[in-house]
Amino acid sequence: MNLKIKKIISKKNKSKVVCLTAYSKNIAKILDKYCDIILVGDSMANVLYGHKNTHEISLVNIIQHTLSVKKGVKNSLLVVDMPKNTYNDNSKAFKNAKMVLKKTGCDAIKLESHKDNYKIIKYLVSKKIPVMGHIGYTPQFKRKFKLEGKTRAACNSLLKEAKLIEGAGAFSIVLECLTPAAAKNITNNLKIPTIGIGSSLFCDGQVLVTDDMLGLSGFYPKFVKKFVNLNRIIEKAIKKYTRDVKLKKFPSNKHNLNGHKHR
Ligand code: KIV
Repeated sequence: MNLKIKKIISKKNKSKVVCLTAYSKNIAKILDKYCDIILVGDSMANVLYGHKNTHEISLVNIIQHTLSVKKGVKNSLLVVDMPKNTYNDNSKAFKNAKMVLKKTGCDAIKLESHKDNYKIIKYLVSKKIPVMGHIGYTPQFKRKFKLEGKTRAACNSLLKEAKLIEGAGAFSIVLECLTPAAAKNITNNLKIPTIGIGSSLFCDGQVLVTDDMLGLSGFYPKFVKKFVNLNRIIEKAIKKYTRDVKLKKFPSNKHNLNGHKHR
């Protein structure tokens, strides 16, 4: 098993697993200093490409962005989201996952749970492809956002789904938008780490979309904490630049390449 994956699993019940998304090298380079896992999420569909949902992102998009991210990653585990319709059956999933791993040099792929596709995870793992699971709100398959695990029956059913994914050989699992009770129940009953998003403090780790926590995306549901308002900071800089260009303050002599005075 990949040593980085072993390290992630060994964090269970010891220390929190830190995860954020990246779609390009410069952000990845910063995340790499702090994150256990960097996820090239299909959230790039909304965040980067302005699509309404994650469905329109292609394998080519994902591979291109992962190649960029990979240039900034030395230490973190690099996990890549498989886009919708790229893992519908065993052979399609294997062919595409193998291509993603081979072309990008990433460490693992993530796929969203749907019906009994834990069997696809089992197949991929049997072919030595490391897989991260994802349950709860799974945007590739559920049109409407809904908090999951509100009743005891729903909690039990989520636990059953998580157990099947663990049994299939996934090395960790994302829990998206689960009630604290459901997240706690799953985390306490699995051996692999749970990575929460909108799923309380009871998970083994946490993931957010980086553009959301930086205050850049404009998408701030209740579970997102904005650690900075980059939108405001960037706008300030752009305003200053615009003013300096208009007032002929920039570029100044010190920005001239030949050092000669032009005015
Ligand atoms: O695509 C993504 O960024 C994700 C995270 C929200 C877990 O799947």
